[in-house]
Formats: sequence, structure tokens, C-alpha cells
Amino acid sequence: MNRESTPPSLGDISAEEFRRHLHEIANWIADYREHIADKRISPAAKPGAIRAALPFAAPEQGESLDTIMADFERVILPGITHWAHPQFMGYFGATTTGPGILAEMLTAALNVNAMTWRTSPAATELETVVLSWLQQWLGLPNEFSGVVYDTASISTMHALAAAREEASTSVRTLGLSGRSELPIFRVYTSDQAHSSVEKAAIALGLGEHNVRRIASDSEFRMDAKALRETIAADLRKEFMPLAVVATVGTTSTASVDPVSGIAAVCREHQMWLHIDAAYGGGMALLPECDWVRNGWNEADSLVLNPHKMLFVPFDFSALYVRDIERLRDVFTLVPEYLRGDAAGAEINYMDYGVQLGRRFRALKAWMVWRAFGREGLAARLREHLRLAQLFTSWITEDTRFQLASPTVMGVVCFRAISTDDAASDRLNSRLVETINAAGKTYLMQTKLRGRAVMRLGLGNILTTEEHLRTVWRLIRNAADSAA
Ligand SMILES: Cc1ncc(COP(=O)(O)O)c(C=O)c1O
Repeated sequence: MNRESTPPSLGDISAEEFRRHLHEIANWIADYREHIADKRISPAAKPGAIRAALPFAAPEQGESLDTIMADFERVILPGITHWAHPQFMGYFGATTTGPGILAEMLTAALNVNAMTWRTSPAATELETVVLSWLQQWLGLPNEFSGVVYDTASISTMHALAAAREEASTSVRTLGLSGRSELPIFRVYTSDQAHSSVEKAAIALGLGEHNVRRIASDSEFRMDAKALRETIAADLRKEFMPLAVVATVGTTSTASVDPVSGIAAVCREHQMWLHIDAAYGGGMALLPECDWVRNGWNEADSLVLNPHKMLFVPFDFSALYVRDIERLRDVFTLVPEYLRGDAAGAEINYMDYGVQLGRRFRALKAWMVWRAFGREGLAARLREHLRLAQLFTSWITEDTRFQLASPTVMGVVCFRAISTDDAASDRLNSRLVETINAAGKTYLMQTKLRGRAVMRLGLGNILTTEEHLRTVWRLIRNAADSAA
């Protein structure tokens, strides 16, 4: 080795270069947000095209950030679906917020792990604080405590793990297999519930087929009478009813199950009641929507995703459990090398789930909720509800369309009508495909009672009435061309 040559840096880029790129990227983000409405929402890319434009093998030598950023603009950006676009109406609508983006930048800079209190005291304590703020907004009683995960699917899996342990305390240690003394557990949820219930049953060894889908009524709410009958039939066959997952804000129509009635059934059979309020729970912030909280006080657990309705950047899911020690009992397990770090803390969030490493998610919730305040959150939510009702009125006034479900939150399901049901199905699928392919808006199609419908979700703080009018015009134009 030549003694005169400078060894390669073991750090990364120079402080000066970092600062320059930080400013450039900050400007890039500001421009992106300012001009996002001019972007084509869904990319024109063909499957595999982006991968083909990138080298097969990872680089042997490091490359400059200028080169990497140029490729970001040239290859990656054209393959992005712009969820933050004000005319993106997929899923529940999606939003970015200034405070949320800034918080994510700070979180990346800190790069701390919130597994124990000691690994970053502020990350743990801020998590407790934001969970408590949210709990107050939701009006959940003090016996509940929360924990933050990434997604509602993971929250629901943890809730059902606690239910499973409670019904048979030794599953944690002995598992389920080979134990003839154990009954077959059953979980009940509506035919409109999210597939995360089955995913949880798969992961927990309960079995996908032991999730019983209960029929919903004409407004897509679980039929409590059908629930009762299904449980009775299962008991006769010696299945053991374990839990009910009630939904507040279903994925297709945002319908709300009759939680109080379901809670009565759970009480009767000593079953765990989990509420999937991943989307709809945010409505509890509005005093005029107090009805949405009916029966919550009787639940064992409730999940809410603030990244769906409460303006926190993806991902952030809050699970609340009545007497959260029930959850801790299932998962606490401190390996030897963490004993020092775990000792003496009020709370180590690693004890409440499968994952050890945990992102510092609380910072972004704290920054967004402080920047908006409860009033600011409520005002934005009310605007989305107003826009959903406005869109609903346009649908009902236009004879070429019909409403496919009642509009109860920021979701509208509607159907273009053709000569018969089958022709209408084809028309609605085709309309969503052609509208989305044009890149000016993004809708979803779903099936209700076996019929294809179009679905629009509002939730982006950048969406104005003008944007919605444009989307409506695009839909009508597409329907005219298809006629
Ligand atoms: C009602 C409901 N529950 C659960 C989920 C799953 O959410 P996540 O993506 O956070 O797992 C969804 C997804 O949209 C949902 O609509």
C-alpha cells in the first residue's frame, strides 16, 4: 500500500456535501409539494420497466449523491404513484402534511430505536404522551392503555394473541399443536371486515377457516342476530368462540358495525371484543359524531390508524387494550443482553409485541397534532365529510349513476348504470381502469353484494372542492365516452 495515499473515508460524505444535499433535497420536497397537482398520478410504466432500467448487480464502488439523485429523477420518480396528489381518491385518500414531512426528516436524523425506555427515553415517553392524547380524543376509559405498531394488521394480530392466551393460558409456552385437550377456537367478523382478521388467524395458528364471516345488513353492518346464531351453531359442534372483531369504518363502504349489540353477545359468551377502528376511529374527534363511539367502553381492545384519518404520515397504528398487562403477559421476554437496558423503566414498549426494534413513530404524531391542534384536525375532517356529502349529492342527482351504499364517512361508493347488472359490472370496471390510466385522478373499484362499484376516498388536506369538481367531470366524461 502506498503510504502517501489517503485511505478511503470510513464515514460517509463530508459535512459540507451533506449540508448541500440536505438543502437541495429540502428544496426538492418543497417544490414537489407545491406542484404536486401538476403531476400525473399513476405512472405509465409497464411491469418490470423500472427494474430493467437499474443495474442487476449492486455497485462495487460507491457513487456520488449527484449521480444517485439524477437516477432518482430519471428512473424512480416516473414510477411513483403520487398518493399525495389532491385528486388521488384511492383507499381512504392519503395526505402528506408539512409538519409530518419535517418530523420524518428529524426521525431519520436521530435514527433511534424505541425498544426500551433507556434506548431513548424521549422516544418512549413521547409515545406514552401521544397515545394518551389520542385516548382522550377518543374518549376511551382509563383502564385502556396503548402501544404503537406499524399497521392495523399487526395491531389486530396482537389483540387476538392476547385473546387466545386468555382463553387458554398456556398457549404462550406450549403452543397449540398436538394438544388434544384444547378446543378449536373461532373468531367472528362481518363479511365486510378487512382481510387482516384472517391474516392474524393464520399467524396465530388459529387457522383461516376458523374466522367465520357474519352476514351484514342492507347497510353493510354486521347482523348481530346472525352472529348470535352462528355462535350457537358453533357451540353445538364444540367449537370455542374466542373473539369478535367489529369494524368501525369498513374498507369498502366505511360502514359501522352495531358494537353495543355485539358487545352484549361477547359478554354472554365471555369472548374478547376487538374493534377495528383503523379508519373510522378518527371520527370520534368530532363531538357531532359521538355515535361512532357506541359500545367502545365495552371492548377489550381497539385499533386506530392515525395515518388513515388523523393526518400522521404512514405508518402509525395505535392499539389500545383494556388492562394492557394482558398483552404484556403474552409477549414480555427479556433476553440476557437487554437486561441492563430494560431494568428500572416504567415501560419498555418491546414488552408489548413481537418486534424488538421499534421506530420513533411518536415524533411525527406529536408534531402534526401540535401543529394542527384538535380544532385544526376536526376542521379538516369536517371538510372531508362535507366533500363526501357533496359528491354524494352529485351522484344522486345524475340519473346515469346510483349510490351503492350510504355515505357515512369520507368514502363514497357509487355505480354507473347500464342495461343490466352484468353490463353495469363491466362498465364500472372499465370506467375505473380508463379513468386511472389517464393519470388525472385515482379511484378504486370494489364489489358489494357481488356487483362491481366505483369507490372514492377523501382524506387529503390538499383536496379542495375544485379538485373534487374536476374528478366528477372526469368521471362523467368517461361515462359519456363509454356510452
Ligand atoms: C378497516 C381496516 N382495517 C385494517 C386495515 C389494514 O390496515 P394496515 O394496512 O394498517 O394493516 C385496513 C386497510 O385499509 C382497513 O381498511
